Amino acid sequence: VKKNPLTGAPVVVALVLFVVVTVAFMAVFALGSQTANGVETLSVAELKDRADALLVDADPERGAALVVTYACTSCHREGAANGIAPAFEGIAARSAERDLQLSAAAYIYQSIAQPGAFLVEGYVNAMPQNYGTRMTDQEMGDVIAYLLQPDAR
Ligand code: HEC
Repeated sequence: VKKNPLTGAPVVVALVLFVVVTVAFMAVFALGSQTANGVETLSVAELKDRADALLVDADPERGAALVVTYACTSCHREGAANGIAPAFEGIAARSAERDLQLSAAAYIYQSIAQPGAFLVEGYVNAMPQNYGTRMTDQEMGDVIAYLLQPDAR
C-alpha cells in the first residue's frame, strides 16, 4: 500500500513549530542574560555617554542628601571602620584610576548601576543590585556629581 505523502504533514508542522519555539526561547534567554535586574550591561563607550548625559543637570548638593536617603552611607561609612564597603573619602581621585578605560564619572556610574562589573579588592559584591532601576536619572546624576567632589565622604 502506498503511503499517502500528506500523512507526514502534521509531523513536519510539529517539527517547524518546535524549532520556532526553541529559537524564540533561546533569543529571549540570550537577551535576558544580558540584563541583570533589568539593568543592561553597557559597553565602555555607553557608560561614558550615559555618565556624561546624567551629569548635565546634576547637583552635587542634592547628591550629598541622596547618599543618605539611599542608605549608601550605611555601608560606605566615613573612616571605613566597619570594613563593609570602601569609604567615599577620596572616591573622585580613586575612580579615575580604577579602570583606565573609564572616566571617573563612568566608573562611578558603573559602580552604582552595575555593582558586580568591577569589585574593589577585598570586598564582595554586597551592593544592592537595583539602584540602576530604583534611582531616577536625575538622582543618579546628582549622586555621581557629589562623589566627583574632592570632599565627598
Ligand atoms: C549593602 C552595602 C552597600 C550599600 C547600601 C551601597 N554600597 Fe557601594 N559598595 C559596597 C561594597 C561592598 C563595595 C565594594 C565592592 C564593589 O566594588 O562592588 C561598593 C563599591 C562602591 C563604589 C566603588 C568604590 C571604589 O572605591 O571604587 C561606589 C562608587 C559605590 N559603591 C557607590 C555607592 C552608592 C552611590 C550607593 C548608594 C546609592 C552605594 N554604593 C550603596 C557596598 C554598598
